[in-house]
Amino acid sequence: MTFIIACASSKGGCGKSTLAVAIGGVYASNGSSVLLIDADTRRRLEDEWYNPKTVSSNISVISTRSEDIAKAVEAQRDKYDVIIIDVEGSANWGLAEAIKAADFCLVPSNVSFQDLRDAQRVYDHVESLNSESKRYRHCWIVWNRVPPAIRSKEMTATMEEAVANGLRVIGTVHERDAYKAMFSYQSTLDKLRAGNAVPSAAKAESEIARLITAMHDELQKKAA
Ligand SMILES: Nc1ncnc2c1ncn2[C@@H]1O[C@H](COP(=O)(O)OP(=O)(O)O)[C@@H](O)[C@H]1O
Ligand SMILES: [Mg+2]
Repeated sequence: MTFIIACASSKGGCGKSTLAVAIGGVYASNGSSVLLIDADTRRRLEDEWYNPKTVSSNISVISTRSEDIAKAVEAQRDKYDVIIIDVEGSANWGLAEAIKAADFCLVPSNVSFQDLRDAQRVYDHVESLNSESKRYRHCWIVWNRVPPAIRSKEMTATMEEAVANGLRVIGTVHERDAYKAMFSYQSTLDKLRAGNAVPSAAKAESEIARLITAMHDELQKKAA
């Protein structure tokens, strides 16, 4: 069965495309066939990142208009183990379409009150969709760009508020050069690690692998 993940947020720059590529790369390096659906009009995944010479043959990328996300998922599902949808960076039709199509909505959020408010909106949207539909969609926050060393008071307060508001957090992705390097080198974390090009690639790869394990644990819990 194809597993469909939406990197979902109404906020630009929170890390949707970064997360989509990082997760897709780790699935592919573990032998899964992966389709990235790029629904951003800037087509960054297809035009700027994807390069068949440097990206694993397990990964394919297509671009689609926001309003065609559901159609694209229907046409492509069953051909891949994992489909990851990357939406445009503003509240739009694409976000709603991606959420509808997904099994798992991952909401990357920087650890700030402003980002938390956007994450809350996505969360509420998924909850209301779940209440009126037979299919259950998971919705989890990923704290992104967390500094590996010290956390500010605002960060600690934001994390506490998320828990107090009932939001669920599936993992933490730290601020690391390796995530930027995936785009500079048109590559994935496993290849950056293997090529010793970027020192933080191994740590990044491990934290993304943990995130994937956590997602599958949640799916199993829900199915049990
Ligand atoms: N964990 C991270 N560590 C370092 N840089 C990051 C991280 N996540 C995102 N970025 C950087 O932040 C910027 C915005 O990320 P991007 O994934 O393009 O956001 P979005 O797709 O939500 O608009 C990019 O320059 C990206 O390299
Ligand atoms: Mg993007």
